Amino acid sequence: MSTTTAPAASPARPRAGARTLAVTSGKGGVGKTFVTANLAAALAAQGQRVLVLDADLGLANLDVVLNLHPKLTLHDVFTDKATLDQAILPAPGGFSVLLAGSGMVEYSRLTPEVRDKLLSIIEQVKPRFDWVLLDTGAGISDVVLFAVAMAQDVLVVATPEPTSLTDAYATIKVLATQQGRRQVGLLVNQAGRPGEGKLICGQLQQVLQRFVGSGQPFRLDLMGEVRSDVSVRQAVLKRHLLLENYPGSDAAQGIKALAARLLS
Ligand SMILES: Nc1ncnc2c1ncn2[C@@H]1O[C@H](COP(=O)(O)OP(=O)(O)OP(=O)(O)O)[C@@H](O)[C@H]1O
Ligand SMILES: [Mg+2]
Repeated sequence: MSTTTAPAASPARPRAGARTLAVTSGKGGVGKTFVTANLAAALAAQGQRVLVLDADLGLANLDVVLNLHPKLTLHDVFTDKATLDQAILPAPGGFSVLLAGSGMVEYSRLTPEVRDKLLSIIEQVKPRFDWVLLDTGAGISDVVLFAVAMAQDVLVVATPEPTSLTDAYATIKVLATQQGRRQVGLLVNQAGRPGEGKLICGQLQQVLQRFVGSGQPFRLDLMGEVRSDVSVRQAVLKRHLLLENYPGSDAAQGIKALAARLLS
């Protein structure tokens, strides 16, 4: 299947290759998959060609969130049973997806083969899209860190819960030390009140600067804040995109603002 259902790129944008953005988190279940899918829809609505790669190998569930029942997945590409073109599917929301399918246990460990296959897939898709979003797993396992390392930019999703913040801090610390990143984006999801994202970002930045040291400036950029919103749960339960079902909801506004910030 081809990607022809994805919208064409805006002519103003040079076709030098996709911007790659890994969406990751310290703690699990904070909303990475929800954010990635809806961000993809928000970018697509702005005329961007977007591919979401389900990089949560082993515990993939992007297909569940999007209510897709793929016959062909990354697994088939890895084992040469399908071409990349056959496995890239159109998703609701006007973007494309490359799904991993759950139960890819053999890929939950980072072998040289998984590494090479993933890198080759990224290189092949980059010229064809404006954005490649990687929905990664949580934590700092080698598969997650490798998936993040493949992307130019990283967006760490955290909720205001203390456990999520501690884990976000640990993750960002690893990204700074192991990947040499000096800039990481933060999305505060499930914010209880407006402005909570800014507060949390300021606190995290302070602790991180102390850790990284004043000689090496480190920037944690608040890319957005998405409110805790009952519509999210309702959309997920229906297996629909929030942006399509509840476009006027608080959380949808937060996602659209995140897309606008990324495009600015
Ligand atoms: N802004 C929000 N408001 C309310 N509920 C939310 C919000 N964001 C996420 N959730 C809830 O959190 C659940 C988990 O989200 P999601 O599956 O996207 O997390 P995840 O970080 O991808 O998890 P995993 O680490 O297992 O991959 C959603 O199904 C939804 O019910
Ligand atoms: Mg997920």
